Amino acid sequence: MRRRLIVANWKMNKTSAEAAAYVRRLSDLIQPASMDIVIAPPFTALHAAWHAMGPSSAFALAGQNLFWEDKGAYTGEISAPMLKDAACQYVIIGHSERRQWFGEQDQAINKKVNAAIRHGLKPIVCVGESLADRERGETTAVVTGQLKRDLDGLSKEHMAMVAIAYEPVWAIGTGRAASPAQAMEVHTLLRQTIASHWGHDVGEGIRVLYGGSVNTENAGHFLESPEVDGVLVGGACLDPACFATIARFAEDQSVAANERRGV
Ligand code: PGA
Repeated sequence: MRRRLIVANWKMNKTSAEAAAYVRRLSDLIQPASMDIVIAPPFTALHAAWHAMGPSSAFALAGQNLFWEDKGAYTGEISAPMLKDAACQYVIIGHSERRQWFGEQDQAINKKVNAAIRHGLKPIVCVGESLADRERGETTAVVTGQLKRDLDGLSKEHMAMVAIAYEPVWAIGTGRAASPAQAMEVHTLLRQTIASHWGHDVGEGIRVLYGGSVNTENAGHFLESPEVDGVLVGGACLDPACFATIARFAEDQSVAANERRGV
């Protein structure tokens, strides 16, 4: 079983003081042993979150975006070395809100993925269809097209650093999550697409997360599926108690799976 990855995407929420309070509370609520918990605060709160986590924290930090150049005259941008400097281990790339509001396209996303990997940051690459795409029956073409363009040119070794988040655009922030069956169908498709490009082992090893209106009610249903290697949580992660509840589903599933395998 792939190690579960549970991500809190705070988006444009929380000050430094709120970040510190959140991380302390979350540490009291959950100490993950058998999964990865990643917190993605806004850039301005990374430092405070890191301080509150302490050096032996079981949580990791992620940036919500980066720019592909290392430094230079790019007003308003943040580079991979800067995220590393802020103690990030991961970075979310190609989130649909970046695509929608900031015009990010696959070619730019591919450069960002390469920049992340070059500096040892693990990219969490988001793909997903719009409602119109789904209604036209184009989900498969859209998500596999994004996947191939976003990851174009990566080696097998690079792919080992990548996680994919399937985030149907119509499910993000709408309260209308995909059904676990819909998620499973696309996850299987993404894994097969990866396996056919990079080989069976890469396909089997890569983590595919679901994101889009995940909450304490539905998280368990997604995480029951062996095809769902974790969740990327937006709105419901802002309350540490809710996020801890969601993470516990993953922990419980991982422990149960290990018990079944006699580990
Ligand atoms: P949501 O956001 O959980 O609020 O739908 C998920 C995401 O955008 O990653």
